[in-house]
Amino acid sequence: MPDLPSAYNDLEKYTEDLCSFIDTTLVRQITGGIHVNDALIYNAWDRLPTEWTEWWSRWPDHRLAQQNLIDSIGEDDTSHAHENAYTDGGIIGRPESLGNWLARLKALALTRTQRPGQSVILPEVLQTRMKTKKVTEVSRATKLIHDLCEARGIRHVVDMGSGQGYLSISLAYLFPELQVLAIDGSESQVAGSQAFTDSLGISNRRLTHMVHWIDGSSALADKVQAWSAGERCILVGLHACGNLSEHMIRYFAEISCIDALAVVGCCYNHIVPRSDMCPAGFPISEALRDRNVTLTPTALMTGCQAPNNWPRPDSQVSSVFGRRRLYRAMLEKLFFDHGISAGSGNERPAWGIRKGDMVGFTAFAHRAMDCLHVDAAQRPTDEQLRAYEEEYRGWEGRIAILWTLSVLCGKVVESVIAVDRYHFLEERQVVQEVDVVPVFDAKVSPRNLMIVATKKVQGG
Ligand SMILES: C[S@@+](CC[C@H](N)C(=O)[O-])C[C@H]1O[C@@H](n2cnc3c(N)ncnc32)[C@H](O)[C@@H]1O
Repeated sequence: MPDLPSAYNDLEKYTEDLCSFIDTTLVRQITGGIHVNDALIYNAWDRLPTEWTEWWSRWPDHRLAQQNLIDSIGEDDTSHAHENAYTDGGIIGRPESLGNWLARLKALALTRTQRPGQSVILPEVLQTRMKTKKVTEVSRATKLIHDLCEARGIRHVVDMGSGQGYLSISLAYLFPELQVLAIDGSESQVAGSQAFTDSLGISNRRLTHMVHWIDGSSALADKVQAWSAGERCILVGLHACGNLSEHMIRYFAEISCIDALAVVGCCYNHIVPRSDMCPAGFPISEALRDRNVTLTPTALMTGCQAPNNWPRPDSQVSSVFGRRRLYRAMLEKLFFDHGISAGSGNERPAWGIRKGDMVGFTAFAHRAMDCLHVDAAQRPTDEQLRAYEEEYRGWEGRIAILWTLSVLCGKVVESVIAVDRYHFLEERQVVQEVDVVPVFDAKVSPRNLMIVATKKVQGG
């Protein structure tokens, strides 16, 4: 059972409330019904409750209003959660309906506060290739996985999406009794991992590498079975992106030699929604399928954000971040008004924004149109571009608030994804126990929810 938010002690009720919340018109709108880039085309600001927009309009610096929103959903009680007042600017009294909505969002988000647990100390020779964040993650994950192996008498580890092999190599190096199979779809990642393994003198028998795309196929399941030679295994994955986590969860349930699972997801934007083309897509559980839960690509993208880790604003220093978001939205409005297609908004190739492009919207738009090869005949005149600049002067804060609102919803989006994975496993007869463990310090590793599961003893 995951650690449910404090207002809940019943998973069904929590699932129901969570799914209802993400299905409300407001949450649908701010998590992708209207992408923030399209905010000016579809008047996203005006569709928010008027008392909210009026209140935000009274803040002298929108970045403080943004921070006020972010603080209100923070888990850290020692944070600067100045709930209702920003007295310096006389901005007292957050509208009750906004306060209630934020409280609801916070009450529905699974906790990311790290659950206490030990870590191994990685020797220098293993740490050299890892960044500090990776060292912390691998130290904790290695300990948790090894403990599970000990508790269940497992000596075979299958690491899917093994990348440079930091986890696989640490397990093989520190625990000679383990045999590890590291699988990744990228030849170059596997080559890097193999080279590190060789440099440490770890034999190929103790750590076997395999280049294989992980797609839920039975061909890979057969290869894992063959490698394990009938021995029980644990399936592990550290930051298994998008639907890689879902494939792993299915493999755990379906491959008989796999006895335990420990997987941390990430990059939810790579999750594939369920469709006729992809019947195994999100959501994977009956519990969420029965509730017709869907998440738009934008909503999935927000699940990857960590607003509580953003640097706090410094009112003395101006930021181009908000202006860039505004210019991006203005560009979409410009293209929309002038019938310029240049590919649809989210599919356009990204173009590098240089410092000089931010001096004004005219420069920004010219650079974008150059990069997107907009036909000279279609291009608006500089006078028309300046008119947009004039019209949307002062809109930076509105776009920034819209963006922040969508990112705040990322907390419930990630909770929906974790709860779906939890339910899928709970729905399987073979599964004994499932947990969702906030395994890392969320301040260092915001994607810290590990799904841990074990199977019933065979014949038991
Ligand atoms: C975010 S990296 C994590 C790497 C490693 N687990 C770590 O924590 O350092 C994800 C890895 O998964 C691999 N990957 C992602 N999707 C995959 C798939 N469907 N099949 C095989 N490999 C995949 C990528 O090539 C990449 O190496």
